[in-house]
Amino acid sequence: MQRITTHGLNMPTLGLGTWPMKGAACTDAVLSALALGYRHIDTAQMYGNEADVGAALVQTGVARADIHVTSKVWPDHFAPDAMRRALETGLSALRSDYVDLYLLHWPRPDSDIPGALATLVRLKEEGLARAIGVSNFNVALLRLAVEQVGAPIACNQVEYHALLDQSNLLAYARAQGVAVTAYAPLARGALGKHASLQRVADKHGATVEQVALKWLLDQEGVAAIPKAARAESQRTNFAALELTLDDEDRAAIAALPKDVRLVKPGWAMAWD
Ligand SMILES: NC(=O)c1ccc[n+]([C@@H]2O[C@H](COP(=O)([O-])OP(=O)(O)OC[C@H]3O[C@@H](n4cnc5c(N)ncnc54)[C@H](OP(=O)(O)O)[C@@H]3O)[C@@H](O)[C@H]2O)c1
Repeated sequence: MQRITTHGLNMPTLGLGTWPMKGAACTDAVLSALALGYRHIDTAQMYGNEADVGAALVQTGVARADIHVTSKVWPDHFAPDAMRRALETGLSALRSDYVDLYLLHWPRPDSDIPGALATLVRLKEEGLARAIGVSNFNVALLRLAVEQVGAPIACNQVEYHALLDQSNLLAYARAQGVAVTAYAPLARGALGKHASLQRVADKHGATVEQVALKWLLDQEGVAAIPKAARAESQRTNFAALELTLDDEDRAAIAALPKDVRLVKPGWAMAWD
């Protein structure tokens, strides 16, 4: 599998999303994904499942060093002591000495972003996070983080799929060596309605989910973290790596509606 390396990051492009799985179901899903070959797991303080992911990290036969783990800190914990406690608690739950990538989960209008980034940088310097980044940052906020604060931002995790345009954000991120991780990469089941995407899938003997995933993973600097509880879906998603899309396929995907934003909580700031 391809990896993205930048600012301390060394991340396989296909990962497993874990929200909203918890308990044994989450541990089993992570174990199954690792057995299938996944080496990138996405969790967060807010998901309440770091301990369930940690249980899988202990039970699997795959070495911790071979697994990329992303976690995220919720905005209520952006103050220095609170963020340190959140990461230390998360590490103990994950049964790890470090996370591979630690993200500010959401910017809120009242968030002290430069202050939170300064704390994040300290945690990286102390080795508790191998790489740091942000999530749900628009171009203006990413610019603030990279150019004004000068933080070594390795990744911005945002909603991105075949039904949502992220071209402005991608152009800026690429220019700055910032990876973009696509969350909700399967558009949470909304892909199946589109006959033109189904035609591309049929042409390859594949599913619309596989086509949409491979379209993302073919893009420079883009990773994707589909959530799949069932081993069969995990296998299907992993097999998407084998697909070869052509210009005609990409043109069909480019012609899909690009305004389907599925995750838009009340505190979200402007997207562009
Ligand atoms: N940073 C953020 O603010 C943020 C926000 C949202 C999500 N995330 C992360 O991104 C991950 C993925 O996003 P998401 O869960 O919102 O959406 P998603 O990955 O687009 O969709 C997940 C849904 O697709 C189904 N699915 C998976 N593989 C499939 C396949 N091959 N065929 C048909 N259906 C399939 C899953 O069902 P089954 O589970 O039943 O297989 C689940 O219902 C989350 O788990 C989380 O880790 C981050």
